Amino acid sequence: MNKKPDLLIKNIGLLATPQGNRSLAGTDQRQIKYIKNAYILVSGQDIVELGEDHELPSQNISADNITIIDAQGLLVTPGLVDAHTHLVFSGWRQKELALKLQGVPYLEILKMGGGILNTVRHTREADLAELIKNGEVKIRRMLAHGTTTCEAKSGYGLNFADEIKSLKAAVELNKLGIIDIVSTFLAAHAIPEEYKNNKEEYIRLIMEEMIPVVSENRLAEFCDVFCEEGVFSLEESRLILECGRKYGLMPKMHADEINPLNGAGLAAELEAISADHLIQATDAGIDEMAKKGTIAVLLPGTSFYLGENFARARTMIDKGIPVAVASDFNPGSNPNESLQLPMNIACLKYKMLPGEVLTAVTLNAAAAINRAAAIGSIEVGKKADIVIWDAPDLAYIFYRYGTNQVKMVIKNGKLVGQ
Ligand code: NIG
Ligand code: FE
Repeated sequence: MNKKPDLLIKNIGLLATPQGNRSLAGTDQRQIKYIKNAYILVSGQDIVELGEDHELPSQNISADNITIIDAQGLLVTPGLVDAHTHLVFSGWRQKELALKLQGVPYLEILKMGGGILNTVRHTREADLAELIKNGEVKIRRMLAHGTTTCEAKSGYGLNFADEIKSLKAAVELNKLGIIDIVSTFLAAHAIPEEYKNNKEEYIRLIMEEMIPVVSENRLAEFCDVFCEEGVFSLEESRLILECGRKYGLMPKMHADEINPLNGAGLAAELEAISADHLIQATDAGIDEMAKKGTIAVLLPGTSFYLGENFARARTMIDKGIPVAVASDFNPGSNPNESLQLPMNIACLKYKMLPGEVLTAVTLNAAAAINRAAAIGSIEVGKKADIVIWDAPDLAYIFYRYGTNQVKMVIKNGKLVGQ
């Protein structure tokens, strides 16, 4: 151990973590390292040592010179990484619930100027300070539920000023240091009302005016597109994502959610870092993704909330695709900041094993936002983002559901919630 530790987490009943600096696929996805009766030593923000309690070096470890957290014999995992959220927005859409219950489809509500476009109106009205203020409430709730890093998309501005404002809000929220936030540019989330009859012009605006500024000001690392019937076609998605890449934004996609356009195939072809949703992904698309190692970011909370089918997670895992699970937190298709219910649904509906889901919300999720070298597992050299669960073992957190099962969160090496 080189660095002097300043935090000891001791009396860990069971430490459970995937291992490594890259996404895990196939049977590797369920290879969880378990240590019973474990301790973790932290220096600053970093994990510097871990092992079994009886190996704990007693020299230099006393309550006088180190903060000690007693994990009370409970389960400890890496902090959760939420690789797909629409964090920055204003307004909620409870008024559309009745429409939804009466059977009006998601894309129909959007066509009527509701859905995403409803949130766009409210987000445009909000100023930067307001977006930051209500974003902070959301990230504090995420943290309380065990999420220590999230991806955040723009996509409710849909014009130059309001997309930039949304991305700036995410940058400012990240600076608060509550959770880490990794930004994605998603102006191609819907066709704004003012361009409804002139989609080409909106695409030109995204490619020629927005992307260069986003890139120059380092406002995002990824570029995403909602590739869907009535939204952005396969060819339009390709144009936007290739343009983003030219400016250094890594491609991501909302792919094959409602209609099978073969977004999965395009994501693989473009070597996107991830393809997300994939409910309708075809066998051919899945094969292409497996060949390229494209990460599938699956969003079971959205399937549940929209009454959609469930993505074929088992097929994807069996074919060797690294699978991540994310919340898709947004005001329409999953208005819930917690990753815990999506984790339960991944188990119960995708039939993913607890170990597979743990990797899906930690290491594979970190890989889906290009952070696998720094977070996503409890290993020496990684960041001390750690969750202590009110649970004796891993299966328990998937077996129980619907309440917050987090006991304590350690973020950047500091205890932040109890
Ligand atoms: O990933 N599918 C498109 N976008 C979001 C939903 C956004 C909204 O309804 O506000 C999603 O589910
Ligand atoms: Fe989404």
